[in-house]
Amino acid sequence: MSLGPTDLRVLVVDDEPVERELLTEMLEVGAWRPPVTSSDGREALERLSEDRFDILITDLQMPRVGGEELVRRALRLDPDLTILVLSGNGTIQKAMELTREGVFDFLPKPFTLDAFLRSMERARDRVVHRAEHRGLQQVIDVLLRALESKDPYSNGHSRRVADLAVALGRHLGLNRGELERLGYAALLHDIGKIGVPEAILEKEGPLTDAELAEIRKHPRASHSILAPVEFLRPCLPSVLHHHERWDGGGYPAGLAGERIPYEARIIAVVDAFDAMTSDRSYRGALSAEAACGRIREGMGSQFDERIARTFLEHFSDITETCPTRDESPVGELVP
Ligand SMILES: [Fe+2]
Repeated sequence: MSLGPTDLRVLVVDDEPVERELLTEMLEVGAWRPPVTSSDGREALERLSEDRFDILITDLQMPRVGGEELVRRALRLDPDLTILVLSGNGTIQKAMELTREGVFDFLPKPFTLDAFLRSMERARDRVVHRAEHRGLQQVIDVLLRALESKDPYSNGHSRRVADLAVALGRHLGLNRGELERLGYAALLHDIGKIGVPEAILEKEGPLTDAELAEIRKHPRASHSILAPVEFLRPCLPSVLHHHERWDGGGYPAGLAGERIPYEARIIAVVDAFDAMTSDRSYRGALSAEAACGRIREGMGSQFDERIARTFLEHFSDITETCPTRDESPVGELVP
């Protein structure tokens, strides 16, 4: 996506008219679209609630609603807003604190034109990155809703498996990047079921061998659907192998033990737990206790023992984070 400076809406907030003019001129030099300007925080908040802006540039010391309060309230209105704080003498410490609360960058005064435009370029990159991320989330949301409209028994399953997987991954010591990759893989692991006939997905009673074979195609189908999306490429191994078993008796490749991708082994545990505790066309939901008993029985045969043990040991903490069945399938995976 190519969003240039003229595509982005900028709000400049400073109580000094001279400063507002100077910032407007600097933006003009950088070929940015002329900004909307406000002389204090209260007016700025009104503008932010009426209109959508990409970047907020604000001074910290202002009458009425000051910069600090403006920033906090602006982020409540739009957590995605990219904020650049300009800090004078005595407010640098405050500006640094605000970067920990969601402010993107701060510039100590006085600053050069170059420093300002460099900071604006970084802000633009962030806006583009956030827009791409939102776009991806919307596409994933559409895919999951399509899947869930076809298979009503999977209502909310993808999102719950993703949340459970991320919570379990945290207890297993995965870092932020690994958790994000795991979350997306868990969210999309069953997307290939879109290709399985409804008559099989909704069938009451046992499946024939041919129907079972049809269902078992779904990990490969998920892999094929997601493979063209570059961002999701790191998730593909765990999507493909989420139905492997530790003893080698799973599918699609019959991998065993540590040959199964680590994240696929995590998904296998939480996927089984959520499937067992949900209603299906062919049986009612098991209690959490009964499902945990099945997971314990499957340690070392169906599941990686260490992963399953960690799930059972931290069960209440892991399941506490799981959303209700009605929530949107997509949100922040790794808050
Ligand atoms: Fe699956």
